[in-house]
Formats: sequence, structure tokens, C-alpha cells
Amino acid sequence: PDEAKVQALLGRMTVEEKLGQLQQLTWAGNTGPGGGQTEAAEEAARKGRLGSVLNIYGAKYTNALQRIAVEESRLGIPLLFGLDVIHGFWTTFPIPLAQGAAFDPAVAERDAEVSAKEARSNGVHWTFSPMMDVTHEPRWGRIAEGNGEDPYLTAAFATAKTRAYQGRDLAAKDRLAACAKHFVAYGGAEGGRDYNTMDVSEARLRNHYLGPFRAAVKAGIATVMASFNTISGVPAHGNTHTLTDILKREWDFDGFVVSDYTGVQEMIAHGFAADGADAARLALGAGVDMEMVSTNLVDHGKRLLKAGKISAERLDDAVARVLRLKFRLDLFDHPYVDEDAAISKPGKDARSAARETAARCMVLLRNETSELPLSTSARSLAVVGPFGDSTDLLGTWAGPWGESFPAVTVLDAVKDAVPKAEVSYAKGVDAGGEDTGGIAQAVAAAKAAEATVVVVGEASALSGEASARSDISLPGAQEKLIEAIAGTGKPFVVVLVNGRPLTIGGWLESAPAVLEAWHPGLEGGHAIADVLFGKVNPGGKLPVSFPRAVGQVPIYYNHENTGRPYDPDNKYTSKYLDLPDGPQFAFGYGLSYTTFDIGEPRLSVTRIGADALRKGDTVDVAVTVRNTGRRTGDEVVQLYLRDPVASIVQPVRRLCGFRRVTLDAGKSSTVRFRLSAEHLGFWTHDPAGVFVVEKGEIRLYAGNSSLATGERTLTII
Ligand code: IFM
Repeated sequence: PDEAKVQALLGRMTVEEKLGQLQQLTWAGNTGPGGGQTEAAEEAARKGRLGSVLNIYGAKYTNALQRIAVEESRLGIPLLFGLDVIHGFWTTFPIPLAQGAAFDPAVAERDAEVSAKEARSNGVHWTFSPMMDVTHEPRWGRIAEGNGEDPYLTAAFATAKTRAYQGRDLAAKDRLAACAKHFVAYGGAEGGRDYNTMDVSEARLRNHYLGPFRAAVKAGIATVMASFNTISGVPAHGNTHTLTDILKREWDFDGFVVSDYTGVQEMIAHGFAADGADAARLALGAGVDMEMVSTNLVDHGKRLLKAGKISAERLDDAVARVLRLKFRLDLFDHPYVDEDAAISKPGKDARSAARETAARCMVLLRNETSELPLSTSARSLAVVGPFGDSTDLLGTWAGPWGESFPAVTVLDAVKDAVPKAEVSYAKGVDAGGEDTGGIAQAVAAAKAAEATVVVVGEASALSGEASARSDISLPGAQEKLIEAIAGTGKPFVVVLVNGRPLTIGGWLESAPAVLEAWHPGLEGGHAIADVLFGKVNPGGKLPVSFPRAVGQVPIYYNHENTGRPYDPDNKYTSKYLDLPDGPQFAFGYGLSYTTFDIGEPRLSVTRIGADALRKGDTVDVAVTVRNTGRRTGDEVVQLYLRDPVASIVQPVRRLCGFRRVTLDAGKSSTVRFRLSAEHLGFWTHDPAGVFVVEKGEIRLYAGNSSLATGERTLTII
């Protein structure tokens, strides 16, 4: 029924009105260069020359602008309001990288459900999330926004988050249209520098970068955002192969593609478009349907059409895609939100969800002497470090809306958790910069306390867009602070709050316990205290490898083998002279306050036909996990596979299943995975999209990190 309405409306529209639907302007200018376009947006809305506005929220403000479009423009087509609700609206959840560490897509679902409810009630219809850029680049600030280095894990999160944002019906007043971004291969930006070039083979593109997007499209995602990078010399915004051949034709994507900010215009700087008109022609022709902020389509579209440089069919197709979403969101019948029902702050349940999920995302990196959990009967504790009494725990993309509600600090939460203890605080050092004498005070506090919690890390502003770092160690004198606390000889634990993998210097060996808390969000302090005092037993795992030194980057678990794999006894093998082999902490790694034993994978069949797999047959894999310690805890059973001989060299391992389970002490459980052709095959270099399942052996490994050792072989005949 909507399609008839879409076509009927299209039939009544002038070319200017059609082009207007393809324009998005920014209300506030806070997510890209240039200022806000407030007046231009009002004027364009009045003339019926505007499809969408970003960076606007609040029931009152969105209603006022909507009223102009609906009541003053000729056709009264409602506007679509978009916003970067990335990991929360009022209620800031842990950053997406942290969510990946939960190895539990339900975490992303809780974030998306709460976010959608809060944002939609404030007039937002559309979030530019989930970000699903797989990356090997810890220097890249935007690593914080995705789920790490693995396409399978990222695809699982992309699916879950898409479904939870959108629900069954976008017309529901507590759902948001989602946006799969950034399409595509943005995570491969050279050197981790934002907006940078990326050159990729067809097989790598499909096996590594496209999977999460394909999963999101399968889950019914409403929109896709093009990425800032070039892909093998062709800007993503002008890339017919990715936007049209793959996304729209091969995958049958029926939503629309939005540019990333001035990405259409940026094709000129890339050296791909001659001028604005050329950029508009190339973008629309390649498959971009809506232009954000820059105005090349509305400026040049009519002339391009007359000159036959863009086709009327393609223009109508783009407009229909935009209108379709507006109908799905029920904006024609209900363009306004109820101002009295707007959610104005984080609710109690939302806060609990943020607290529980943040704790679920934490990864215990080290607990050598079982310093953790800390005793709740401690009489004196010290909290030291620049993030000990800091509200800067929200992470990137929390503002400006999220910043209205500051995070619970670690200091306050520790005081809440052990009300009888005397808790002292010393900042020690700033989050950046040199020691200006504060370390002595922190040392004094540590000496006077039974145990010390050292909270160090990165300010939120050090990760996210346009926040690449060339040195990914703890900024400033923070390492010195840890070393000084270690020098006291008193018990202490280190809590890291950060938006990317860090290189952990020589201080690691001196720290009895290290907890990776990431940027944990609004309830961060409480969640950290929950884990420190054992209310929650940490069960997160690293969704990304932690390098030993930045010079090792890129270092990722699912790499291909060289012809001379690392061999400590052979000089002529692939390695660094000045570093041990491998990362500091491997993908999938994380400890618990208890211990687990994971058995070998047991297969339902050990031989299966390639044809049978192609026709839908599957292999069941059972893995038994037992809690061998003395506390209830969570373990993530991980299944990896290796295809040791293939027509295109395959990764040494790749994740093909994971399940997080909770087990009481002494209890065991059997986790079951089902492997299909989709898991066992791979994409070739064929640009037409050829997926093959080849005959031969597949090795399967089960365990609790990418170093899993339990092995079985499946033969594909
Ligand atoms: O959604 C974002 C994108 O991720 C980066 N550039 C700006 C967009 C809109 O704010």
C-alpha cells in the first residue's frame, strides 16, 4: 500500500521538489566542518526543497521545524530527522568497541532499545548507527565506534543492533530507522588516519569488510551511509560497484544511501570529480540517494537532468527510496511527537541497563595474585589517577546530548560500594602532560591505604572521529604514576578507561591486576565498582588485539600466513627483531575470577559433501565448558576455523561461533554451534560475487580466545 502512495506522490512532484527530498541539512554544525544551516533548513523546508535535517533533537524543536515542512510547503511532505545516537541518547551506554567485548549481542540490543525510545520521543526518527567498520587500526580514533577486528563478531552485533533499533514496525513510537555505516572499507584507512585512502582486493573486500553490511541488509536496515575513503582509487561516494552492483543489485537493498556529511563534495578534493555538478552526477549515478550538508544535487540536479547527465528514472528511484522510509515511519499521518511524552532524562531502568551492560563489557587482563576482587571489608582504600574522580567516562559520540548527564565517577561508586571504608583520592597526574608534583600525593595516599585503585586512560576526546593517535600508550605521565604506586609495594589494581587498544608498557609486569573498562558510559563508575568488588565477575573478551608496540600495527588474529611463518629458531621468518611474536593480548582473550575448562569441539559428522553444504546441509559442533573454580562466572566459548589449503589463501584462523554462558562453580554446560556453507566457504576475487565452498580439510578449534587449542578436523568432500 505504501508503494502506491509513494508513486502517487512522486507523480505530483516537480523536479525541484524531488531534488529537495534528496537534500539533508544540518541544524547544528557539530559533527563536521562548517557551521549549522538553521536558516537555510527552515527556508528549504518552507519551499518543499528539503528531505531531512540532522543534528536536531527535542520534541519542541523538531515539531516546530516539522510544522514548517508539513503546514507551509506545497506538498506538506514531512522531514526526516537524523542524529548520531551511537551508544545512547540521554542514557550513555559503553562505547560500541566495549560492547563488542561483551561477546553478547544482547548488550547492543539493550543499548539500541533504550536509545530508540529516548531519541524517538524527542523527535528523532533516524540514527546514524550501527557503525560496523571492521578495522586493524588501533591508531584510528573511530575504532571506538565499531566492534573491533572481526567480521563475524561485528556482523552479529550489526544484526542485533539493527533489529533492536528498528523493531518490527518503524511506525512504533519507540523505534528508530537505523543506518549501516560506513560503506565500505573505512576501517582500512591507511595509517589509521581518518578519511584516508584504502586499497583492497575484491576477495578481502567481501570476506573482511562487507559481511557486517550484508548481515545488516538481511536484518532489514533502513539506510546505509557511504564512507569518506576511496576504495582502490574510487571514492566510496562515487563507487558504482559497491553502492549499486553489490548493495542495491546483489543484495537487493530497498532503503536509501546517505552521504557522509560533505562526502559528495569531497570527491573534488579526492581528484575524482571536476566540480560540484560532476560530483552530483557521479554520486547519484553511483547510488547515493541523499546528500548531507553539501548541496550539489539540489544546486545542479535540474541542469544535469536536462543535459541527460542524470536520468529521470534514477532520480525517481532515489526519491522513492526516501519517501518509502517516511511512510514506513508513519510520518505522513503522524509527523509530530507528543511534547508532553518526551523523555527528558535517563530513567531508572535505563540506568540499570547501562550499568549492567558496562560491567558485562569489562575485560580482566591480568590478575596475577588474585588481587581482584577487592574485599568489601577493607577499612581504607585509595583511588588515584586522572580518571578516578572524573566524569569523562562517556566516550566518543556522547555529546552534546549525552553530556547533559555526567557519568558516575569511580570515586563516588567506590564510596557507595564500601560505605564503611575510608576512601581517599589523589589525582596524581593530569590525563595528559607531565607530572607536576601530584604523583607524590598519590603515593602518600596509596601508602596510607590497604589497597589502591589506579584509574588511568584516555580522555573521550582522544578517540572517535578525527582523533587518530600515532602513539597509543597511556598519555602524559600516567605510566609514571602506575610505576610510582607499584614502588610503594602496597596492593593495587589498575583500571583502564579508553576508546582503543592501548600499548601497555613495562608497567604491566608490576601491576598485580589490570581491568579494561573501556569508556563505560553513564553508569561507568558503578559498573567498575561492581567488578572491582566482585558483585559482577568479569567475563568480557577482547574484540581486538592489543599490540605490544605501535610499530606492530596492523596486528590482528585473522591474518594470512606468510610463506615463512614466525619461527624463533629461524632468522629468515616473519617477525620483528625487537619484539616477541604476537600481540600483548590476543583477540578473544579475557580472564575471570573463576577458571574454566573448555573441551575439544565434537562434530556431528566428520565428512560432508560440498554439494550438500551448498544445498543447505549443516554440521553441528558441540563444545563442553566447565567452571573449574570456586565462583559463578561467565565464559565465552569461541569456535574458530582454518581452511589450510584453498584457492585463495585463507586466514590462519577465523571466528565462526561464540556463546557467552554463565556457570556456577563446578557446573558444566554444552554449547552447540551449527556450521553451514556460509561459515565454511569464502568469497573469491570475482567482482560478480562468487562464494565457494571448496573440498578439503577444515580445522576447527574451540577455546576461550583466538589461541584456542582444542582441535578437530572436518573434511569437505
Ligand atoms: O554519522 C556521522 C558520520 O559517522 C561521520 N560524519 C558525520 C556523520 C553525521 O553526523
